[in-house]
Amino acid sequence: MSEKNRKTIVVGVTGSIAAYKAADLVSRLVRESYEVHVIMTKSASKLVTEATFFTLSRNPVITSFWELPEWRPGHISLAEKAALLVVAPCTANFIGKLANGIADDALSTYALSHSGKILLAPAMNTAMWKNPAVMRNCEILNERGVLLAGPGKGRLACGTEGEGRMLDPEKIIVEIARLVKK
Ligand SMILES: Cc1cc2nc3c(=O)[nH]c(=O)nc-3n(C[C@H](O)[C@H](O)[C@H](O)COP(=O)(O)O)c2cc1C
Repeated sequence: MSEKNRKTIVVGVTGSIAAYKAADLVSRLVRESYEVHVIMTKSASKLVTEATFFTLSRNPVITSFWELPEWRPGHISLAEKAALLVVAPCTANFIGKLANGIADDALSTYALSHSGKILLAPAMNTAMWKNPAVMRNCEILNERGVLLAGPGKGRLACGTEGEGRMLDPEKIIVEIARLVKK
């Protein structure tokens, strides 16, 4: 596929234990000829490395909005060309920030400047997922057209079984393909 026809996907990675799965997601997206740009939160950087995403996405990873390689802040240029923002894994914290319009780091700032479709793949322990504050924030996002992929049920990193598991990357990719085609 020519460079010109490649769809740009921004992958946000937040501080969930499922962050390692985002590496697989990015790798699959690149294999499927998407242009991928990764934005990581500070908490995500504690769990997975920028180098992993730089290598897999073949693009510099954004970790701070104070990196200014061009005269225009990077998040503005990226938002103009991105077909989709997918946040996988998506923490309870990020859901809360997006629902409330908070822009205090690179990813949350980018999310507010992104006018296209947004897909979140929540990943958290069942109690967090069922928390009324998180449920309410998901409803708010749903009303605004933000889409959720999962979470699924199964074995969780905290040692319990239940709802809150990040959907497998191959399932998220199916959803991404459906959304960017529309
Ligand atoms: C080892 C570890 C694993 C975590 N896993 C999750 C998780 O799966 N889901 C979640 O919502 N928060 C999880 N947290 C808590 C978040 O990292 C924390 O709420 C953080 O503020 C999220 O920041 P971010 O949304 O900017 O990435 C985890 C924390 C630690 C220390």
